[in-house]
Amino acid sequence: MDFEATSRQALEEIARCADASSLRAVEREYVGRKGTVTSLLATLPTLEPRERRELGRNANRLKQVILEAVEARSAELAAAEVQARRSDGSFDATLPPAPLDAGSLHPITQVTRELEDLFESMGYAILDGPEVELDFYNFEALNIGRDHPARDSQDTFYCGPDDHLLLRTHTSPVQVRAMQTLTPPFRVIAPGRVFRNEATDATHDHTFFQMEGMVVDRGISLAHMLGAMKTLLRKIFGLDPDVRLRPGYFPFVEPGIELDARCPFCREGCNVCKARRWIELLPCGLVHPHVLRSGGIDPDEWSGFAFGLGLSRLVMLRFGINDVRLLLGSDIRFLEQF
Ligand code: PHE
Repeated sequence: MDFEATSRQALEEIARCADASSLRAVEREYVGRKGTVTSLLATLPTLEPRERRELGRNANRLKQVILEAVEARSAELAAAEVQARRSDGSFDATLPPAPLDAGSLHPITQVTRELEDLFESMGYAILDGPEVELDFYNFEALNIGRDHPARDSQDTFYCGPDDHLLLRTHTSPVQVRAMQTLTPPFRVIAPGRVFRNEATDATHDHTFFQMEGMVVDRGISLAHMLGAMKTLLRKIFGLDPDVRLRPGYFPFVEPGIELDARCPFCREGCNVCKARRWIELLPCGLVHPHVLRSGGIDPDEWSGFAFGLGLSRLVMLRFGINDVRLLLGSDIRFLEQF
């Protein structure tokens, strides 16, 4: 084969190609599976070593030259096509690009961060605690002894045979961990996931979120607690909320209080407040002296308040979500709305 002549001829043919399909045809003719250069390369094993080396070098160089020319011509043709469409008006370089699908923060994360900002601005530290908890922290140190009837209402997932380890049923164990590690006075919040072994429906899930709060200082009273709770509700609902206090029983606070907020959605009752006009949102109270003591704090010198905000419930109220199971259901059609 005359490599010089073949090369010249191939380059001319490539240069003459006016569109992608004729270019592909020329490429096939020379370097395709049955192309002239390919066939030549296929004969190499039958040749004498010396001949083989020279022919191989030339054929490979030719193949390389052709492939590079095809690639260059292909780029030229593509550029020319863009140019043509631009001048005939069918190509608009100023069109905005297709929007990207950006992710977003989960509504629980959004509300948690908002509340963390608020409490941080009031001098609270943000704490974390384990989700697999010791019985001591979840119950015992919170004044809920082995045989305390309050255990019945906390449908507990136990881990292991000896009931020693469990999935925390509330964020209150972080109160005890806070008392053990911090020296009073202190203020903390502890948002997190909690678990209860109960049948699920639109208002109950086995996994949900709470935000615990605890303040320990000298001379803390219900008035301090109420002030903090109202600030919290104002942040959540954006208006000064009407609140109502009812006695509530929790072994780790005394007095224990159920704080209800007037339904922000209605005057006469709606399906959010289940026609009650009040929403049970914020159990709270003054920390029981037994609990202070089990956290290593002298109740004669210090007192405190604690609250256990129902974070999942709050998120539902805020966004008008009518089924708690949506929150952890991972349904993209739900998540895309936030
Ligand atoms: N931990 C309680 C619960 O989950 C709520 C609570 C927290 C009540 C703090 C009072 C004080 O039911």
